[in-house]
Amino acid sequence: MTENGLSHIHRFVPATAPNLPPLLLLHGTGGDENDLLGLGQQLSPGAALLSPRGKVLENGMPRFFRRLSEGVFDEDDVRHRASELAHFVQEARQAYGLEAPVAIGFSNGANIAAALLYRHPDVLAGAMLLRAMVPLAETPAGGLQGKPVLLLSGGMDPIVPADNAARLASALSTAGADVTHEVLPSGHGLTRMDLELAKTWMAKRA
Ligand code: MLT
Repeated sequence: MTENGLSHIHRFVPATAPNLPPLLLLHGTGGDENDLLGLGQQLSPGAALLSPRGKVLENGMPRFFRRLSEGVFDEDDVRHRASELAHFVQEARQAYGLEAPVAIGFSNGANIAAALLYRHPDVLAGAMLLRAMVPLAETPAGGLQGKPVLLLSGGMDPIVPADNAARLASALSTAGADVTHEVLPSGHGLTRMDLELAKTWMAKRA
């Protein structure tokens, strides 16, 4: 148990514009619950922000699930951690009185958001996946009909191969999600172009 009795260490920023969907902010490897608060505020000013810290430590760096090596995931742990995170979101929705959130995940955070879409689609109202990869070998369980997903990939990303991101986009859209996939002329880090595309997509969710 952590603060407020909820199961993940987290930050919560209440909405000042309660008509906007809450955002579930999911940091990258080595980040924490503070990392994406600024991005969330920029992308949807006034939305409630729910930002958990990943529970797995890799050499002291928080993550949302275990990996065997870079880009090779411990899939049992992905499934287990996705289920824990789904449970946390339900707890937090009850504790803070929130609608289903839109996830904004970067890197490892994008990968756990993708795992939520595969296995717990009802938890999210939509998802923005920044530099995500296929999280699991299995196909999405379903329940993604019409779910909005923005996938922003870097054409020169040394961590996420281009065909891997394309497979993720295709798995999600085959399962019914409303996927927008853009490949930017960038690496793993986010650029101004990511912010512009992200803002435009988010404005449609308001
Ligand atoms: C992962 O492990 O989720 C991906 O390799 C991205 C990363 O965290 O570097």
